[in-house]
Amino acid sequence: MSAAEPIDLVGVVGGGQMGAGIAEVSARAGCDVVIVEVSQERADAALGRIGASLQRGVGRGKLTAEEADATLGRLRASGSMDDLADRQLVVEAVVEEKGAKLDVVGRLAEVVRDPDAILASNTSSIPIVELGAAVGTRSTNVLGLHFFNPVPVLSLVEIIPSLLTAESVTERARTFVVDRLGKDPINAPDRAGFTVNALLIPYLLSAIRMLEQGLASAKDIDDGMVKGCAHPMGPLRLSDLIGLDTVLGVAETLYDEQREQLFAPPALLQRLVSAGRLGRKTGHGLYDYA
Ligand code: CAA
Repeated sequence: MSAAEPIDLVGVVGGGQMGAGIAEVSARAGCDVVIVEVSQERADAALGRIGASLQRGVGRGKLTAEEADATLGRLRASGSMDDLADRQLVVEAVVEEKGAKLDVVGRLAEVVRDPDAILASNTSSIPIVELGAAVGTRSTNVLGLHFFNPVPVLSLVEIIPSLLTAESVTERARTFVVDRLGKDPINAPDRAGFTVNALLIPYLLSAIRMLEQGLASAKDIDDGMVKGCAHPMGPLRLSDLIGLDTVLGVAETLYDEQREQLFAPPALLQRLVSAGRLGRKTGHGLYDYA
């Protein structure tokens, strides 16, 4: 395979809401997709969630039942990274912890055979150069492709080359994002939080702090931003949608790098995460979804 060839073979590591969303949009765009989780069981569960999402799309008239079947036919679930050997692009979307992401990128550099394959991270905040530097000569093929949740709905992808990324790799990734996925990318700097989270996270943390200090109710905070600023959802509901563990992980990375008080995670956020109340995905977070 060469670096000039269009990307048809995609791998996704991590079948959570982001990984499943990236796999879904890639398969809908006609790519052959392998989704890898820590076990076959978890990979199958991720595939099941994608199937359900496609069925919702059929119900809403976004795609036909035949298109949903064809999309599922292009998706394969696996419990082994070895099944990514022939991929041209792999996007890692595992938990927002540097150690976990370094392990995955290191393993990808071992198993993915094509020397031109792009190794991308969907990290929300971890500097891409740290992931690239961990894989030696393949660092030129490592970049950030940061999608937004829900992936099938939001058109933005942040494209984040590191100091080590080859320009040809960035351009090939951009072509894939625009021409294949039909998304609207922006170029983002390789600093903690890139562009969007460097702006979004302090806003979310301020809302959580306001609630924690008893200054306003959750409903009034969210209503204020929805009705007063035309945001599609308020900051507390959005935090629950993103996942409080992810919000905390991104805040910690931003705070470590910048040492600015506005990135410091409020105690309420830390306690909810310790309690396993991670937001919509666990049924409890800042709100109760039971
Ligand atoms: N998959 C596919 N489609 C979906 C979907 C999903 N998971 N969730 C919603 N949709 C679609 C619906 O089908 C619907 O489409 P139509 O109107 O064409 O039928 C549309 O989105 C609106 O959905 P709903 O009517 O069910 O609900 P809503 O109007 O309340 O919208 C929302 C829900 C799309 C989530 C909207 O509230 C929204 O955009 N919220 C903001 C989300 C946001 O800011 N995300 C960024 C998070 S930051 C991040 O991801 C990065 C990070 O690193 C932390």
